[in-house]
Amino acid sequence: MLILIILILDIYPCFTDLKDEVRESTPIPDAQQASEDHEQKMLHPVHNPAKAREKAAQGKAAKEEAEEVAEANKKRHLNVVFIGHVDAGKSTIGGQILFLSGQVDDRQIQKYEKEAKEKSRESWYMAYIMDTNEEERAKGKTVEVGRAHFETETTRFTILDAPGHKSYVPNMISGASQADIGVLVISARKGEFETGYERGGQTREHVQLAKTLGVSKLVVAVNKMDDPTVNWSKKRYDEIEQNMVPFLKTSGYNTKKDVIFLPISGLMGVNIDKNMDRDVCPWFSGPSFFEVLNAIEVPPRDPNGPFRMPIIDKFKDMGTVVMGKVESGSIREGDSLIVMPNKEHVKVVAIYCDEDKVKRAGQGENLRVRITGIEDEDILAGFVLSSTVKPVPAVTEFVAQLQIIELPDNAIFTAGYKAILHIHAVVEECEIIELISQIDMKTRKPMKKKKLCINSICVEKFSDFLQLGRFTLRTEGKTIAVGKVTALSGASSSA
Ligand code: GTP
Ligand code: MG
Repeated sequence: MLILIILILDIYPCFTDLKDEVRESTPIPDAQQASEDHEQKMLHPVHNPAKAREKAAQGKAAKEEAEEVAEANKKRHLNVVFIGHVDAGKSTIGGQILFLSGQVDDRQIQKYEKEAKEKSRESWYMAYIMDTNEEERAKGKTVEVGRAHFETETTRFTILDAPGHKSYVPNMISGASQADIGVLVISARKGEFETGYERGGQTREHVQLAKTLGVSKLVVAVNKMDDPTVNWSKKRYDEIEQNMVPFLKTSGYNTKKDVIFLPISGLMGVNIDKNMDRDVCPWFSGPSFFEVLNAIEVPPRDPNGPFRMPIIDKFKDMGTVVMGKVESGSIREGDSLIVMPNKEHVKVVAIYCDEDKVKRAGQGENLRVRITGIEDEDILAGFVLSSTVKPVPAVTEFVAQLQIIELPDNAIFTAGYKAILHIHAVVEECEIIELISQIDMKTRKPMKKKKLCINSICVEKFSDFLQLGRFTLRTEGKTIAVGKVTALSGASSSA
């Protein structure tokens, strides 16, 4: 059923949970100390001050140009979220990638093996690379989104290892909302695919959430192919693919263009960085996991669009530092920007991409940005660092097209219905004001006039910015609906 709604939010945004390492403030190097003019003077005693200044300016311009060329030639960056039902093997694959890319050595693996054995979780040693806190290791379940980096020939990747357990779906949403592409991990082990796929399993919920949250491409990793109940069976692999394809289609994925299936073993490291060993699996001649990731194309974004960076976290470090992913436009040191919705004008003092200080950064980059003109306590997750010329709209209500997935038992979806709204980094309680009309799924036209049910939040129309215009509604720990913003009302975007 599709319904048009107006939503009203009525409590303040709260913070989404991120893993300790993510929340931890990575130390930021000191701001540039001496001015370059000063450096120039010290190095070259000045006889003709005007000429020396001109030379210094030329030198500075050349250096900046070289830096920009270097940054422009840098490999592209993509965030990849690992999603799927609990125990499908997401953290194991993440750990294996770090091992295969040389970031974890044999000695560390032995240490994890010992620790996993002590906790009677022998087979979890690879997952321990990603699952870093005590609770996660003891239970063998990811709780908070793990983060790691690796590179292929063309691309720098940030892995976001989401939790599969249904209690931690809000954390999964925070991970998926930062991602460009998703790896849907499915366990091929007997019974495990079935449990994940059935109603109430997280395979379905994660796919629907990922699509809504802007994950445009999916790699479906059919994992545990080495398991004795599977033994690299083509029949089992085909069965999983045949079940998944119609479901992925109804979730909005074009299975020919946007989805690719791969058989792998995360635990054994098969078909990950190297092509499939034909002795292990003679029937698969497709690409390896890294080859797929290397070649994956994401929809181009407008590089000249207005700057938008939803803030996922902030901290104090020689001023205020905000973290987030650039969804539109670009940012340079010295830029004047505005923090919405509270309309605070700020100046960009420094930009950090991974561990590097950079002069400018563009779309898709995960950044830490040091700004002046605002205190960290005046910023909440879900606020948006935005261009001053065209700030992101801040609204107290909006009109949306909604697709109901599953309502809790006995729930009646009508005006006054309350749910938790997740949209980019915003998590906020909302209320349906009015059901405007029901849409006939066959004709895609409104059936009859009827209506559904804020504190202001930053959103965009889906047609203008998909990443800031798709949302999910959840109640009682379940995703009940996914939607897109079709119109804004009560917008206040003037700076
Ligand atoms: P959550 O974080 O709780 O959602 O689980 P997860 O998807 O991260 O799964 P995890 O990596 O923790 O692995 C769960 C179990 O599956 C562990 O016992 C792993 O050893 C096992 N496992 C993961 N990948 C494979 C695989 O390729 N083959 C086999 N045989 N077992 C695997
Ligand atoms: Mg995990």
